[in-house]
Amino acid sequence: MSGFDSDWLDARAVVDEAARSDALAARFLGAVQARSPVIADLGCGTGNNAVFLEGVAKTLAVWRLIDGDAELLTVARGRNPGARAETRLADLSDPEALAAALEGAAAVTCSALLDLVSKQWLMALTGLVASARIPVLAALTYDGRMEFTPAHPADAAVTAAFNRHQQGDKGFGPSLGPTAPAAFEALLVRAGFDVESVASDWHLDAAAGGAAVLAPLIDGIAEAAADAGEAEAADIWYRGRQGDLEKSRLQATIGHRDILGISSPRSAPEGEDLA
Ligand SMILES: C[S@@+](CC[C@H](N)C(=O)[O-])C[C@H]1O[C@@H](n2cnc3c(N)ncnc32)[C@H](O)[C@@H]1O
Repeated sequence: MSGFDSDWLDARAVVDEAARSDALAARFLGAVQARSPVIADLGCGTGNNAVFLEGVAKTLAVWRLIDGDAELLTVARGRNPGARAETRLADLSDPEALAAALEGAAAVTCSALLDLVSKQWLMALTGLVASARIPVLAALTYDGRMEFTPAHPADAAVTAAFNRHQQGDKGFGPSLGPTAPAAFEALLVRAGFDVESVASDWHLDAAAGGAAVLAPLIDGIAEAAADAGEAEAADIWYRGRQGDLEKSRLQATIGHRDILGISSPRSAPEGEDLA
């Protein structure tokens, strides 16, 4: 349903792990208030987020792994993070399915999801975690920064076009794309959460095992930039980057943020308008 390939998600998992903040993850798990808590992982894909979090600290959690793609869920089920895990097939763009995904959960997390969602969806998520007063950890949200070495004359045009494409509809209405981290931080602050946000950039180097991510990444960037109206620049850029990759001299930094929200005693009253 979603078009996310399990090979791509697994290739990413290694760089995701290196990029993510262990400290934020540990604080998130430490804030979970229950003996055998249900932790909901929204858009879990093949389950890499829960596997990462269990690697930071073993929990007694029941992982509720939710995704709209049945094939990815089958892989996630086989990974069996932690003591117990249950998988749930749901279209999270449906507000009722989102509410059901969070029902009874002691904490909520997601990874590489928020740049796909709309402002309205993010407001709904924030409203749900605020009224339940539960911690939320959103890892690896793309923030619009891409830096490549060596420099290429089309880098700026391709990055701008890619970022425009990221704000198209990815199934949740117009996506926040690179504006998602700032939007989520602002919504959480307004809802009375204590918020911590740290950079979790990917650092990719073709000469140091990064080609498995760089190759599909440059494909995807060029395709999106062409779709967003920069076909000529994207083609020149793609051919240049393929050459760099073949010579094992391509490096890239892709900007992400990990965002932790912990409900504080001064949290906003239930039902406050977050618009
Ligand atoms: C970029 S992947 C991230 C997967 C995983 N969290 C990770 O970090 O490896 C985004 C995930 O969101 C899921 N997704 C996208 N739209 C969805 C929707 N409307 N309902 C449920 N899941 C959705 C995709 O199937 C995919 O697994």
